[in-house]
Amino acid sequence: MKDNTEIIERIREKLGTERKLAYVHSFGCQLNVSDGEKIKGLLQQMGYGFTDDENEADLIILNTCAVRENAENRVFGIIGSMKKLKELKPSLLIGISGCMTAQPQIAEKIHRSYPQVDFVLGTSAISGLPALLLDVLNGREFAEDIAEYDDFSENVVQVRESGFKASVPIMFGCNNFCTYCIVPYVRGRERSRDAQDIISEVRQLAADGYKEIMLLGQNVNSYGKDIPDGMSFPQLLRELNKIDGDFTIRFMSSHPKDASRELIDAIFDCKKVAKHLHLPVQSGSNSVLERMNRRYTVEKYLDTVNYIRSRDAGFSLTTDIIVGFPDESDEEFEATLDLIRQVKYDNIYSFIYSKRTGTKAAEMPDGTPEDVKGQRMRRLLEVQRGISTEFYRRFVGRTLRVLVDGASKKHEGFLTGKSSEFIIVEFEGGTELVGQFVNVEITDSMNWAVTGKLVT
Ligand code: SAH
Ligand code: SF4
Ligand code: F3S
Repeated sequence: MKDNTEIIERIREKLGTERKLAYVHSFGCQLNVSDGEKIKGLLQQMGYGFTDDENEADLIILNTCAVRENAENRVFGIIGSMKKLKELKPSLLIGISGCMTAQPQIAEKIHRSYPQVDFVLGTSAISGLPALLLDVLNGREFAEDIAEYDDFSENVVQVRESGFKASVPIMFGCNNFCTYCIVPYVRGRERSRDAQDIISEVRQLAADGYKEIMLLGQNVNSYGKDIPDGMSFPQLLRELNKIDGDFTIRFMSSHPKDASRELIDAIFDCKKVAKHLHLPVQSGSNSVLERMNRRYTVEKYLDTVNYIRSRDAGFSLTTDIIVGFPDESDEEFEATLDLIRQVKYDNIYSFIYSKRTGTKAAEMPDGTPEDVKGQRMRRLLEVQRGISTEFYRRFVGRTLRVLVDGASKKHEGFLTGKSSEFIIVEFEGGTELVGQFVNVEITDSMNWAVTGKLVT
C-alpha cells in the first residue's frame, strides 16, 4: 500500500477551508462500485464532500465499465456533455477511472478527443489517485496513472453507498479468458486477498451492524488458488459463517466449471450464507459453450444443478445469458431455451453479444443479423417470464426472512426487500424497518416479486 499521508495533507492545504464537492459515479459490476467507494474514501480524506448533482461539483470522477459497447458509448456521451460544465466552471476537474481506461485505444481516444478530461486513473491504481490529483491541482494539463499495483488498496477506508449492505472484494482479476469477454484484459490476472484480512474486515462490518455482506470476485470459486496453502472459497465461507452477529453472506460470481460439491455443501451447512446461487451459464448449447471457451458442458452444468436440487428442490438459482454469440444458429439458441425450461431460474440477466476489440470472439465470423438477435432476446425473456410466474408460486404460504431495502417504487405504502433466496418481497410497513430483517408471510406471487404480510 502506497503511503499517501503526505500527499493528502498537501492536497488539503491546497483546497483550503472552502468545502469542495466531488461527484463520483460508478458504472458496471459491483466490483467497480466497490472501487468507487474506495475512491470516495480517499477523496474524503482529502477533505472533499460529496454531491449527486454534477452541476455543483468541483471534481467529477466517472468510474467506467467496458464489458459491452453500449456501456462505453454512454460514458463517451456523458464525457462529451461535460464540456459545457467545464466552460461554465473552468476550475472543475474531470477524471476517468475504471475498466475503459485499461484499453490502450480507449485511453488514447479519451486523451485525444476530450480535452475536458484532466486525468485518467487505471483499474489497479486507485491508491495513485492522490498523486494524480495533486499534479492536476498544481496546474498540470493532463495526468495519467495506469500502473498495476498489487496492493489491492488495502486499508483505504471506503465510503459505502449503504448503511446496512457492504461489499467486500475477495479477489481481483480473471484467468478464464472467455472468448467474448474484456474483463481479463482490463482487470489483469487473478489475485486473492489474504484470508485473515477478509475475515477481519467482515468481523468489523458485522460489529458495525451491517446486515448483508457481499463477497466479490470475477470467479470467487478460484479464491485462494494463487496463494500457496491458501484457504479455498468454501473454507473461507465456513470461517466467515463463524463470525458473531445477525448478518447474511452473499457472493458473486461463481464459474460453473469450478462450482464444486464442497461449495454447495458449504452453502447448505452455513446458516449465514444466503440460500441462492448465481451460476452464469451463458448458453445452453455445447458448441456455443466451446466457442466461448467456458470449459464446461451443458451436462456438467446440469449435474451441479441436480446436486443442488437433490438437496432442496426449490433452491433458488439465477444466471447470465448471452444471446447472439457469433454465428449462433437457431438450434443453438433453442438449446438455451430448453436449458432455462429445465433449470427453472428465478431470474436471468440476459445480454445481446457485444463485440469487444482484442478478444478472440471479435475475430469470429458472425452471420446472424442484429434483428434476429433482437427477436431471440424477446423470445428468451418471454419464456423466462412464464417460468418465473409459475416457479414463484412455490413461495406462497411460506414465511420468508427479508432484509428491507426501502419504499417500494411500484406499490404505494409498501416496502421492498430481498429474501435469503434473492427474491424481491413487497409488503406493507413503515420505513423505520429499512435496514432490518423482518418475517413476511407470502400471500401472492408475480413473475418478478412476491407479496405478503408482515409477521410480528
Ligand atoms: N465474471 C463473471 C461475469 C462478469 S461480466 C462471470 O463469469 O460470471 C457479467 C456478464 O456480462 C457475463 O456473465 C456475460 O453474460 C456478460 N458479458 C460479458 N461480456 C459480454 C459481451 N462481450 N457481450 C455481451 N455480454 C457480455
Ligand atoms: Fe469474463 Fe469469463 Fe472471466 Fe467472467 S469468467 S470475467 S465472463 S472471462
Ligand atoms: Fe465492467 Fe469492469 Fe466490471 S468491464 S463488468 S466494470 S470488471
